[in-house]
Amino acid sequence: MKTFYITTPIYYANSVPHLGHLYTMVVADTVARYKRQQGIETYFLTGTDEHGINIERAAERAGRTPKEQADYVVGYYKKMTAAFGLDTAHGGYDIFMRTTEPFHYEGVTEFWRRLARTKTPKGNDAIYKGHYEGWFCAACAAYKTEDEYAKPARPELPPTCLIHETPLDRVSEESYFFRLSDYDEDLLKLYESRPNFVQPESRLNEVKSFVAGGLQDLSISRLKSSVKWGVPVPDDPSHTMYVWFDALTNYITAIGFGNAERDKVAGFKKYWPGTHLVGKDILRFHAVYWPAFLMAADVEQPRNVIAHGMWVDATGRKMSKTLGNTIELDVLERFFPTDTVRYFCLREMVFGQDGRFGYEALIDRTNSDLASGLGNLSSRTLTMIGRYCDGVVPSGKIAEDRLLLAKRTGVDTDETTIAGFIEHARTQFLQHFENFAFSRALEVAWSIVARIDKMISDAKPWDLAKDPNQQQTLNAVLYRSAEALRWLSVMLYPVMPEAAQEIYTQLGFSESVGNVNPRELSWGGLPENTRIGEVKPLFPRIDKAKTLAAISASRSGTHATEADAVPEAATSSQTTPAPPMERATEADAVPGLASFIDIDDFAKVDLRVGEVISAERLPKSDKLLLMKIDIGEAEPRQVLAGIAEYYEPEKLIGRKVVVVANLKPRKLRGHESQGMVVAASIGEQGRPVIATFTEDVPNGARLK
Ligand code: MSP
Repeated sequence: MKTFYITTPIYYANSVPHLGHLYTMVVADTVARYKRQQGIETYFLTGTDEHGINIERAAERAGRTPKEQADYVVGYYKKMTAAFGLDTAHGGYDIFMRTTEPFHYEGVTEFWRRLARTKTPKGNDAIYKGHYEGWFCAACAAYKTEDEYAKPARPELPPTCLIHETPLDRVSEESYFFRLSDYDEDLLKLYESRPNFVQPESRLNEVKSFVAGGLQDLSISRLKSSVKWGVPVPDDPSHTMYVWFDALTNYITAIGFGNAERDKVAGFKKYWPGTHLVGKDILRFHAVYWPAFLMAADVEQPRNVIAHGMWVDATGRKMSKTLGNTIELDVLERFFPTDTVRYFCLREMVFGQDGRFGYEALIDRTNSDLASGLGNLSSRTLTMIGRYCDGVVPSGKIAEDRLLLAKRTGVDTDETTIAGFIEHARTQFLQHFENFAFSRALEVAWSIVARIDKMISDAKPWDLAKDPNQQQTLNAVLYRSAEALRWLSVMLYPVMPEAAQEIYTQLGFSESVGNVNPRELSWGGLPENTRIGEVKPLFPRIDKAKTLAAISASRSGTHATEADAVPEAATSSQTTPAPPMERATEADAVPGLASFIDIDDFAKVDLRVGEVISAERLPKSDKLLLMKIDIGEAEPRQVLAGIAEYYEPEKLIGRKVVVVANLKPRKLRGHESQGMVVAASIGEQGRPVIATFTEDVPNGARLK
């Protein structure tokens, strides 16, 4: 029997998940359902990555042990996966993998031992002991080279991670290394021989050029005195395994590598090699390090590594807790049906590219594609079958002697036209699904919705119903419409399991639509005389203004408590409200406010574009900078700002900033401050990040 194994990355157990994390699970769940529907025995893994310094620190901040911290986060994951129908009980994942499981310790220990016994293709020991010297980002759990960090504002400060914008740790200690540099040729051969190994192709090219540029050996352990929370290195407990070494191995330990009990439950031979779904930000780990480890361990390579893009905010920055711009899952869960969120994720993001997530866009799509589109097609079809055919699916056949009559109404008497269209659409839909092109697949499915809608509008069944001679024409239109709905429900099941089942049940079927193979659909499979079920609305319209206001009012509370409870990464908790997302409305732009202000209230604040002319530290103050800022007036303004710990004065000169120009002047340390520079406030310490422009703007321009 054919088998299929799909994995999501395992998520860091330091903080609660957001939309970015949910997304990979939704994609994996969709693919798993798609495979199962075709009778392929499928194993779907998701879970948590629970070791490492980042979790150790998050736990410390929350006053928990690392295991308690992981348990807390896992509790939240389980709650959310259940709420979004992604858990086992809802037909979702088969294992929620945790790297703290004893079977994983056993498996990863065995994996390390195998590598430690191995010679590289160039005849060297695959693992050796050395000394590591360099910068490490706890949030990425990765060492950073010079082009991967930002130089500090002052020489005594550490550099910061370009992704997380948080300070790096200096590491200078004994370490075990994996001799990655000896695997470049074999890796390049792998990419050449298997062009689909990494998808999409553009990502494969990135990986190839990274490897072709030369590989450095990889530090794969930390001294236990620096990082306690992790798997001990076999035969040398003074070292803890590097968290990525431990984490990547989960993909095989979960199905039984290195543990006979686990092997019985899942089956390593049965399911490996698997398909890894990952965000493009962690592709290198999956497409370079992991394959090299597997080569060294003499384990078969994954089937493929599929990289998706990032959900970004309106300014194009990756959605992340550290940046404070996340879409929280409990907000999504409270305000939107699960299938709506699933549909939006798959329809809106062109797979492989970055996508923008906004509540307004989500509501618009729900209302147009789902409520007015699919939902309306379903309810009008079934309601008409109820009204004109006593709730029984009519025959789709038009008898010879009625053909002429039917033709006069403009209805196509040859049902193979519509059948051919839908069959072709199904083929395309499946093809796109095979290529992970979900957005295109859904476009194709909606071309069926549009076609059937048009058929109904053109045929006007409500008029046909008035003429008893046109009963067969009316029946044919309704049959075609109902049959198209059946096809749609089968095709859309992996994306919207609940709604698809609902349509299928309303059509009168009692079985699970998840067991119907879309490849085996054939036109006419909807039996005549089927009694349809109770007709219920599938996707109620969402009141945009009300919902946006309610989200806005609810956001500050949930955001603060969630983030406070489990602060992420080095910057700790985020109480800063998320910035507005793309297509944000006014309601979105003021998250956290239970009541709105008038546009007139906003207009009272005179915000101007300014240019920093000079900037210097204020003597005897660590925090204050004194700046002269040109805001298009006769004289530049003198403004004091508490940013000296974070910005070098010289680097600010010439920078465009936003100034609150009508703030009452006040004296600070004997100097008058005639305005305020606008900045985001990040993390518990309120690290300021000055607002600026990416386009050229004249000094003095007003912000409205
Ligand atoms: N623990 C590692 C993975 C180890 S796998 C052996 C890790 N964890 S993570 O929690 O930081 O990220 C997990 C996944 O979530 C990654 O695939 C990442 O790309 C994804 N996302 C996190 N933020 C995201 C967005 N804003 N958008 C889309 N996916 C994002 O990395």
